[in-house]
Amino acid sequence: MSKRIVITGASRGIGNKTSKKLAELGHHVVAVSRSEDLLNQLKENYPKNITPMPLDITEESAGEKIGRYLKDNDLKIDGLVHNAGVLINKPFTEQTRADWQKQFEVNLLAPALLSKGLKSYFNTGSHIVTISSMGGFQGSSKFPGLSAYSATKGGLSTLTECMAAEFSDSRIACNSLCLGAVQTEMLAQAFPGVEAPVEPEEMADYLAEFILTGHKFYNGQILPVTLGDPG
Ligand SMILES: NC(=O)c1ccc[n+]([C@@H]2O[C@H](COP(=O)([O-])OP(=O)(O)OC[C@H]3O[C@@H](n4cnc5c(N)ncnc54)[C@H](OP(=O)(O)O)[C@@H]3O)[C@@H](O)[C@H]2O)c1
Repeated sequence: MSKRIVITGASRGIGNKTSKKLAELGHHVVAVSRSEDLLNQLKENYPKNITPMPLDITEESAGEKIGRYLKDNDLKIDGLVHNAGVLINKPFTEQTRADWQKQFEVNLLAPALLSKGLKSYFNTGSHIVTISSMGGFQGSSKFPGLSAYSATKGGLSTLTECMAAEFSDSRIACNSLCLGAVQTEMLAQAFPGVEAPVEPEEMADYLAEFILTGHKFYNGQILPVTLGDPG
């Protein structure tokens, strides 16, 4: 059966490839990011399966805009993937208040408010997946430059456990995947020259399957998805 999934950060990297994969499998993706042109390109390739939703997830009205589209079209959703993310690689002593705020707002606050705003649109048996990082996984190796990023990702994983408890009566499962390094623009910008062992298409294949079926096996879980490298 075809499902409807909201994916943030669908314009590039892992979110883009996951949106493509789900569209290829015949599912419908509400594709969220700020880059309208890139979302429109995605729609051109999969006209029946992609709905571009150009917005900044840190805007106060982000959840309302997605909700209005769902309400106006009498639609429900089966999944919400909090994939959009920002990484500012700087030593702890150089991370500014603005750096902390930006990473906090995109990586943690927006997923919380979007989940809250869209709660009434979920079908029973839905799945919320947060895309966290090995940097935010308790007990993992930590690396200089990633304090703010890793703290927000650790918070995102904890938020996921809390949402799983809050949403269990509504039968909405919530799980967090802590990814290791994947070869995307984010990785190339933050760590020039580093080569990841995983391509975004490979991660997208795994994520698509997890989004569609993971809620049958997991709820409130923080799962490392790594070959042992940092992320
Ligand atoms: N790549 C890795 O090695 C790695 C490892 C561990 C975890 N992760 C996580 O995986 C996720 C995807 O990462 P990636 O490597 O694919 O990153 P990426 O290539 O930099 O893509 C990031 C995506 O987030 C979107 N985004 C950023 N700020 C946004 C905002 N304010 N509103 C809406 N969308 C926004 C971007 O879209 P626009 O610019 O169009 O808005 C873009 O589509 C992130 O959460 C990241 O932390 C990545």
